[in-house]
Amino acid sequence: MKIQIINGPNLNLLGKREPGIYGSESFESFLEALRQRFVDVQIDFYQSNVEGELIDKMQEVGFEYDGIVLNAGAYTHTSIALQDCIRSVTCPVIEVHISNVYQRESFRHHSMISCACIGVIAGFGLESYQLAIEYLTTRVSRPHRA
Ligand code: DQA
Repeated sequence: MKIQIINGPNLNLLGKREPGIYGSESFESFLEALRQRFVDVQIDFYQSNVEGELIDKMQEVGFEYDGIVLNAGAYTHTSIALQDCIRSVTCPVIEVHISNVYQRESFRHHSMISCACIGVIAGFGLESYQLAIEYLTTRVSRPHRA
C-alpha cells in the first residue's frame, strides 16, 4: 500500500513555527514514528510552498497511490486549482489540519477543498495525519466520493 503525505506552505517550519498552535516537533521526526507505526505501508512525504508544485505532485501520484493525506496550509482557504486537482485524481484525498481551524480566525473556517475530499480531520495536532492513515489502511473497500 502506498500513501502520499503532502504538506503545503509554511509547513516546512513545523517545530519552529508558532509552537503554541502547531507544536514543537518537526515533521521529519514525526514521520519517522509514523513509518514505524505503519511498517507495511509505504509512506511518501512531499512539502512545497508553491501551489503549482502541490498540484504537480498530486497529479503524479493521484492515479497510482492508495491515498493522499493533504495539509494544504493556507491554500486550503483559497485554492480552486487544488480543488480541481483533487477532483481530477482517482485516489481518495483526505484533508488534514494540525490545528482546529474552527477555533481560529473566521477566514480559516472555510475550505475550498473539503468538498472534493473524502473527509476532513482537524485539530488533533500531528495525530491528524495518523488518523487519516488509519482510515486509509483499515477501510474495507468502501466507495469514496469522487
Ligand atoms: C493549517 C491551518 C491553516 O489555516 C494554516 O494556514 C496552516 C496550517 C493546520 O494544519 O492547522 O498553514 O492547515
